[in-house]
Amino acid sequence: MADSDIATPAVIHRADYAPPAFLIDTVALEFDLVPQRTVVRNTMRLRRNPDAVRAPRLELLGEQIEFVAATIDGKPHSAVQAHEHGLTIDDVPDAFELTIESICNPEANTTLSGLYVSSGNFFTQCEAEGFRRITYFLDRPDVMSTYTVTLRASKDEYPVLLSNGNLLEEGDLGDGRHFARWEDPFRKPSYLFALVAGKLVALEERVKTGSGKEKLLQVWVEPHDLDKTRHAMDSLIHSIQWDEKRFGLELDLDRFMIVAVSDFNMGAMENKGLNIFNTKYVLANPETATDTDFSNIEAVVGHEYFHNWTGNRVTCRDWFQLSLKEGLTVFRDQEFSADMAAGTQDDAAAAAARATKRIEDVRVLRQMQFAEDAGPMAHPVRPESFVEINNFYTMTVYEKGAEVVRMYQTLFGRDGFRKGMDLYFKRHDGHAVTCDDFRFAMADANGRDLAQYERWYSQAGTPRVKVKTAYDAAARRFTVTLAQGYGESSAAARETQQGPLLIPFAIGLIGKSGNDLPLKLEGESAAGATTRVLEFTQEQQTFTFVDVAEAPLPSLLRNFSAPVIVEYDYSADELAFLLAHDSDPFNRWEAGQRLATRELLSLASRAAEGGALSLDDSVVAAFGRVLTDASLSPSFRELALMLPSETYLAEQMAESNPAAVHTARQFVRKRLATALKTEWLKAYDSHRTPGAYEATPEAAGHRALKNLALSYLAELDDAADVVRLATAQYDAANNMTDRAAALSALLNTAAVHGDDTIAAKSLADFYQRFEKEPLVIDKWFALQATQRGSAARPTIGIVRSLMAHPAFTLKNPNRARSLIFSFCAANPAQFHAGDGSGYAFWAEQVIALDALNPQVAARLARSLELWRRFTPALREKMRAALEQVAANVKSRDVREIVEKALG
Ligand code: TRP
Ligand code: ZN
Repeated sequence: MADSDIATPAVIHRADYAPPAFLIDTVALEFDLVPQRTVVRNTMRLRRNPDAVRAPRLELLGEQIEFVAATIDGKPHSAVQAHEHGLTIDDVPDAFELTIESICNPEANTTLSGLYVSSGNFFTQCEAEGFRRITYFLDRPDVMSTYTVTLRASKDEYPVLLSNGNLLEEGDLGDGRHFARWEDPFRKPSYLFALVAGKLVALEERVKTGSGKEKLLQVWVEPHDLDKTRHAMDSLIHSIQWDEKRFGLELDLDRFMIVAVSDFNMGAMENKGLNIFNTKYVLANPETATDTDFSNIEAVVGHEYFHNWTGNRVTCRDWFQLSLKEGLTVFRDQEFSADMAAGTQDDAAAAAARATKRIEDVRVLRQMQFAEDAGPMAHPVRPESFVEINNFYTMTVYEKGAEVVRMYQTLFGRDGFRKGMDLYFKRHDGHAVTCDDFRFAMADANGRDLAQYERWYSQAGTPRVKVKTAYDAAARRFTVTLAQGYGESSAAARETQQGPLLIPFAIGLIGKSGNDLPLKLEGESAAGATTRVLEFTQEQQTFTFVDVAEAPLPSLLRNFSAPVIVEYDYSADELAFLLAHDSDPFNRWEAGQRLATRELLSLASRAAEGGALSLDDSVVAAFGRVLTDASLSPSFRELALMLPSETYLAEQMAESNPAAVHTARQFVRKRLATALKTEWLKAYDSHRTPGAYEATPEAAGHRALKNLALSYLAELDDAADVVRLATAQYDAANNMTDRAAALSALLNTAAVHGDDTIAAKSLADFYQRFEKEPLVIDKWFALQATQRGSAARPTIGIVRSLMAHPAFTLKNPNRARSLIFSFCAANPAQFHAGDGSGYAFWAEQVIALDALNPQVAARLARSLELWRRFTPALREKMRAALEQVAANVKSRDVREIVEKALG
């Protein structure tokens, strides 16, 4: 038959799902691990799927592997045809044993998908479709099998041999090689298979889980990294305890392993019992890792561990259901981090800590997911089609997906949510299911019809809620009218709309004194809680509060109760009042952001026209009050005083103008720095953390506020203070948070004053100190790529010369990200330089990466997807760069991105 009959179609549609024609009950894999030529023997028990239409032949997927031989029930089978996309086998019985031998070349595998070599060790990455690069298989998540894996390799070069599950036996083969045999008792889809082989060492702990069973925990790293594993191990132990306590979910294997690898496409991977991590999310000690790194590690370790139940025990039927595991698991890791931050503090402090985490998560959602929703890659949480599944590990599937899960909890409370989870596992443990199955479990456990709720999964675009309020003093009634729609969203978003959403809309009313007013909805006999979750289900709906004694100020969408944009005409004074008084810490922060965004956008339009800029004293005063309000936690103050990012602001403009946004934002930073100089200096002093480094959220909060103060002081015309403080901080730092912040402040002062002698000295020192720590050298590249530039010294020049630095390589994704992505995605004013130099650089790098690693190239390709929203001059240069890439790339991954962008 022709290859094209089984070649993956150009576009894959959710509606075309059909169950697999065959099932694979057991898989026995044998690996002879040799870098250039690994032999894989795969013995499977197959049978026809009783729930599928009878297929004429067996089609197995395989990519980039060399077919050697196949037998059926131990006998050679002639009707086997190997081709570019896999194996076609005719004349198969209804149930049989199939053995296939094939060869792959891990050393030449730069895609980091399938089996590959990194620093001389072997690793695998199978999600989403990497297993077919290892052996021929029904490589789809609804085919679940039990695996036995035998690894054979040179004992000297690969002393450690790991795979999923439990170690059955290991021993010597006598010829300089040894072997290990592993068995995973749980049925799993192929994307959860993993093996690791090489020179590694482990930090070990034995813990007892809820049922009293002892478990072996290991964090495997290269020998020189063993001193950076403690935090990952602690995070794992906390994750295990948290999942038992919050969800009653216990670790199901006797052993749980984490392995760190420096060449890795994403953050980490939840392979059953053998999580494989990017070193960035494992390795940390105070000298090498920032406070942000420490909390990211905790979150990612938690995330992958939580997948053991939400993803592995219950997995996805097909890749359109990806958010079933990712949205849910992100929600779980967010809750874990929030609980860890709250710790055992008193209620108020715990609430503040939880709010800090919530603010950080919402900031990511709004900055990244809202942007995705506004561009050519907009898609629903459960997409309808894709070209390359790797392009759908997106902010929408992960972060909006987490919000969609969070809203069940907002509607039903923690207990109702837990009931839904319990029912979900009761019904679906051991199966591959859909987002609908999760929704039905939530609905049934809470006695609710959630048919309307499906739209959260099927509609693309960011909903907008317009709010109108009216107070009738005589009747003491306050009405809130909500209207929902999508405004002017992308075509993709418009096409998917089916009707109004069920939006849990949390609201509070604030009186003149700044206190929450009692809330009594029309028809209720008594006032209830001071925050109410309105169930907003119509296109337009009015809610009436009665017995309202005074004209209130509404606090809308408290704690960001739904992933929507709220439109309400607050005056600047009202926002300043909310910033000072709202009992909902999220909305306090939100008020400050609204105030700042409004000022910054009007300044940006003035800057675009070349007008003079000014900022009202009342705005400065509002931020000054936050800075000096000792009743607020330092981490909250840091978040409230951080201005919205340039990227976010540019997206809010009718026509994105990064240069104007930069001018406006710098103007405001400088104004706040100058007007509040005394207060910043005082904050800097009073939030120092002398003594030994502590990785607690409290200590991190002090460092964050202190370093924010330092970064504002770097804006001052008089550089003397900041250079003195930053140099002293750099020299005395006993932790990476302070050292990197000091270096960043020096780099910015250098740009402001056009003199980089001191910054250059510190940069050189930094490199020398950390030459042997790749993750720190990544920071060294990133700090330079994100630094401010000037006409005399544009950042692109520095970036281009760093590309030639001996420590730079395109092959390592972390390194490529540290320099190229940092510049293209995190330095908008320089990347969008009017001469198009940033875009030309981007095109070159996308093309170069495409040949090595399509997944990473496709991520970079996305930095221009919003090109149509920019000013005409930039738009044309962006289009030219996109066309150049479209004409020069080969992978499905990058093609899908650039074709959608140009389309
Ligand atoms: N499932 C992983 C997670 O979210 C992420 C992942 C998907 C991944 N595909 C990958 C990681 C490819 C590395 C490479 O936890
Ligand atoms: Zn995940």
